[in-house]
Amino acid sequence: MNLEDIKKIGIAGAGTMGSGIALIFALKRYEVVITDISRKYLESGKKNISIYNSSLIEENIITESEAKDAVKRIFFTTDKKALYDADVIIEAIIEKMSIKKIFWKEVEEIAKESAIFATNTSGLSITEMCRELKKKDRFIGMHWWNPPHIVPLIELIKGVETADETVQVLAKLIEKIGKQSVVVFKDVNGFIGNRIQFAVFREALKIVEDGIATVEDVDKAMKFGPGFRYPVLGPFETADLGGLDTFYYIASYLFKELSSAKEPTSMLQELVNNKNIGVKSGKGFYDYSDSKDESAMKHRDKNLFKMLKHIHSV
Ligand SMILES: NC(=O)c1ccc[n+]([C@@H]2O[C@H](COP(=O)([O-])OP(=O)(O)OC[C@H]3O[C@@H](n4cnc5c(N)ncnc54)[C@H](O)[C@@H]3O)[C@@H](O)[C@H]2O)c1
Repeated sequence: MNLEDIKKIGIAGAGTMGSGIALIFALKRYEVVITDISRKYLESGKKNISIYNSSLIEENIITESEAKDAVKRIFFTTDKKALYDADVIIEAIIEKMSIKKIFWKEVEEIAKESAIFATNTSGLSITEMCRELKKKDRFIGMHWWNPPHIVPLIELIKGVETADETVQVLAKLIEKIGKQSVVVFKDVNGFIGNRIQFAVFREALKIVEDGIATVEDVDKAMKFGPGFRYPVLGPFETADLGGLDTFYYIASYLFKELSSAKEPTSMLQELVNNKNIGVKSGKGFYDYSDSKDESAMKHRDKNLFKMLKHIHSV
């Protein structure tokens, strides 16, 4: 399949991810069909899309009429059979291997021979998910980041039998919708982004648990130090500019001191056991009572949009 052959996008799951993914394709003038198990979930998907649209309009990224036109291009249905003529089918349903496997088995009976099957799984095995399918070469992981209408990265994960052609055409499609793709050659947990994110999280926990610094200062150090550079320079570019000899000397004494915890650490365990799970419960590492949760999310979105606009302007 070539990029030009992709006219219609099928999406399964109208939740947090599926609704945002549907909107992005519709804004780029693709015909979109989105399915879910009941009308109730489709309605909540429509509501998500309207919220995502409002913030994109508010930020002057799209106009009101572009938003309206995009919604008209999305067909909402509980009937999976509507995926029959989609050229790419993106599955963003519940993160359970058994349910995803049943979903794909059923979809294979309905879908076009040429259709590409992409799963937005956060980390389940791509190879295992398509084990019972007839055509595994067109099956691929396509990991979007939340919120999907803002974050540019999409990771493409190869299963053992995913064809290079499948990777190439999706990479072109991602470029066309204004996102950024990376290819993960091996079907490993965490792909690229979460492996790096959790290596940082594990070390941040260690610094606080060992009494080296406070939660607030770890966040501050990240945002004004390494994190300040990360939108411009990745870890390898940073090392090249810093000097690999110096990075080698530092790695020689520092690597052995870094956390190698194999399980969630005690501080994290304790917070979760006490149901202090962050904005969702009103308390996590920080306090979110008295609407501080809303202001934390607004602050996040406002600043993410600023960065997104900057990316669009360079
Ligand atoms: N939320 C995130 O931050 C995030 C980020 C990246 C990837 N993901 C992955 O994306 C997928 C969806 O996550 P989400 O956060 O959007 O979940 P969600 O719970 O918000 O939405 C999932 C939707 O799928 C529907 N669904 C369940 N079974 C279905 C089926 N058989 N057919 C059609 N629809 C079905 C549900 O009714 C629900 O509306 C998961 O695999 C998740 O791991 C999530």
